[in-house]
Amino acid sequence: MEFENISIDIEERKAVLTINRPKKLNALNRATLQEISTALDQLANDNDVRVVILTGSGEKAFVAGADIAEFADFSVEKGRQLSAEGHKNVFDKIENFPKPVIAAVNGFALGGGLELAMAAHFRTASDNAKMGLPETSLGVIPGYGGTQRLPQLVGKGKAMEMIMTAGMIKADQALTYGLVNYVFSLEDLIEQTKTLAGKIINNSGDAISSAIQAVNDQFQSDKNGYETEIEHFGNAFGTEEFQEGTSAFLDKRKPKFK
Ligand code: COA
Repeated sequence: MEFENISIDIEERKAVLTINRPKKLNALNRATLQEISTALDQLANDNDVRVVILTGSGEKAFVAGADIAEFADFSVEKGRQLSAEGHKNVFDKIENFPKPVIAAVNGFALGGGLELAMAAHFRTASDNAKMGLPETSLGVIPGYGGTQRLPQLVGKGKAMEMIMTAGMIKADQALTYGLVNYVFSLEDLIEQTKTLAGKIINNSGDAISSAIQAVNDQFQSDKNGYETEIEHFGNAFGTEEFQEGTSAFLDKRKPKFK
């Protein structure tokens, strides 16, 4: 399918999903969010794809936030709907994606942009990246999961400060905070992130999928992550990938996963 606001490149089982509105610093308008949602459904079902890397086009921005021009005149009801639909169609979909999603933050990740990066399973950043949740400076609060995921990643105090000051932190501080796992030069960001993805691809996709659910369930009030772990640990014993992984180890060879 052709997209207008995003592009997808698949190479060696790694899909790079690039948000492509550089003139608007890749701000997330409704059409872009819809395309991301559709693309995620396609990538989830594409057996050739094992890892998804999210990034932004250009050298300046990952995503500079939700498109402010689009929601400036919204009513209370439309505001609530914008947030709820975004959670369901994009941000929760990324968090619970059955394959690893890595955000490669190549510049400004603000508001909805940082929220998009935080919905991913982990993040890398370029050394020019700047991250923040500026919503309170606009008279609103983060609405795509930022109030929940930022404290999960950096702790409550640092999250409160970032949300209250509406300030930006640089890549090196984001690394210290644990908000990103690695900082690379801008020109190396995608290649280095692909190298990381390559290490993931060596392992069982089924097991990784189960691990994503178990880790995520820690943060769901209606779920018990320990019980999810027990369930998925047990289920693994019934999979071909478990048979392949354990027999490869015993045979002293590399496993061949799907
Ligand atoms: N929504 C809509 N448009 C946006 C946008 C957003 N979140 N962020 C940037 N843009 C647009 C600008 O309006 C501008 O468009 P124009 O050329 O048609 O006027 C274009 O992108 C370039 O941005 P500009 O502000 O000129 O770049 P800059 O280098 O001076 O500043 C930022 C960069 C990121 C600091 C600044 O764009 C900014 O503060 N953006 C908003 C960030 C924000 O509050 N996001 C949270 C939204 S909830």
